[in-house]
Amino acid sequence: MEPRVWLITGCSSGFGEQFVRQNIARGDKVIATGRNAATKLAHLKDTGAAILDLDVTISEAEIFSKINEAHQIYGRIDVLVNNAGYIESGAVEDIFIDRIQRSLDTNFFGSLKVTRAVLSIMREQKSGVVGFIGSMGGWTGYPASIAYSSSKFALECLADCLQAEFAALFENCVRFIIFEPGYFRTEVFAPTKPLVLPANIPGYEPFNQVLAKGLNELYGNEAGDLVKGVARMIDVLTGTGMAAGKELPPRLPLGTDGLESIRAKCQATLKICEDWEDLITSTDVVIEAKQ
Ligand SMILES: NC(=O)c1ccc[n+]([C@@H]2O[C@H](COP(=O)([O-])OP(=O)(O)OC[C@H]3O[C@@H](n4cnc5c(N)ncnc54)[C@H](OP(=O)(O)O)[C@@H]3O)[C@@H](O)[C@H]2O)c1
Repeated sequence: MEPRVWLITGCSSGFGEQFVRQNIARGDKVIATGRNAATKLAHLKDTGAAILDLDVTISEAEIFSKINEAHQIYGRIDVLVNNAGYIESGAVEDIFIDRIQRSLDTNFFGSLKVTRAVLSIMREQKSGVVGFIGSMGGWTGYPASIAYSSSKFALECLADCLQAEFAALFENCVRFIIFEPGYFRTEVFAPTKPLVLPANIPGYEPFNQVLAKGLNELYGNEAGDLVKGVARMIDVLTGTGMAAGKELPPRLPLGTDGLESIRAKCQATLKICEDWEDLITSTDVVIEAKQ
């Protein structure tokens, strides 16, 4: 089989860097992208990956031009991994709105714009797989997670819409999946990042301090193994290894904590549907039978 061509966003560290290294080791071709690529992706040059500077917050026109550049490198793009993302924290009342918008710009609109640019190439090829790195936070809002979780909820919707549109219009020639990891050992919680800023409203400061301490303690102690996590995602995206012989699922939790959190949300939602079914279904228009 011909080597696949991967386009991966956010490759300076964490999941993105692992995707590059593991896919190159499998014999595939990789276009590794990231912002300030000349310095931040320099450590990937020796892998043989093609390196492309791509900040996913640039305008849609600029993204289309970058993706066109990427397409010319190997003449096709088989798998897109929308990985670039970061964490903004802060309680709903306390966080400045522009920080929520910044989070959506990168984590949601970045993936949306890159995907829109890649779709015409994949439709032309009549094949392709697009993976989104969502989160267990895309199912449940936690305290201080409005900026991050709203961006990951929006990605869930994006993946659903694309699946439905390509099923209805293009015979599923491009397939989509959103991964929903729990906590994995990457740089996302690195203490060098401004994860928790001082509160704007004094009443929130004790909460922010507890949060900062919790995130600090989490870093390096996350339950998820980065190398295994990426290996399983590659299995799923390529239908090989542990995913051999299985249909690409539309979404997939990753890690025990991701599984437990998402299962709990599903079970709680089902219970609401069952406990309140009488009231819920009592709102339908009643059509009187004609005499
Ligand atoms: N690790 C976890 O526990 C976990 C759990 C669920 C989901 N995720 C998701 O996994 C994805 C990867 O994160 P990670 O855990 O691997 O953390 P990471 O090591 O911090 O990697 C994040 C990557 O995203 C890049 N990025 C951020 N903003 C960008 C932008 N505007 N344009 C292009 N690249 C940008 C970063 O580049 P810079 O170096 O330039 O900042 C970095 O390469 C994210 O979407 C994250 O939300 C992670």
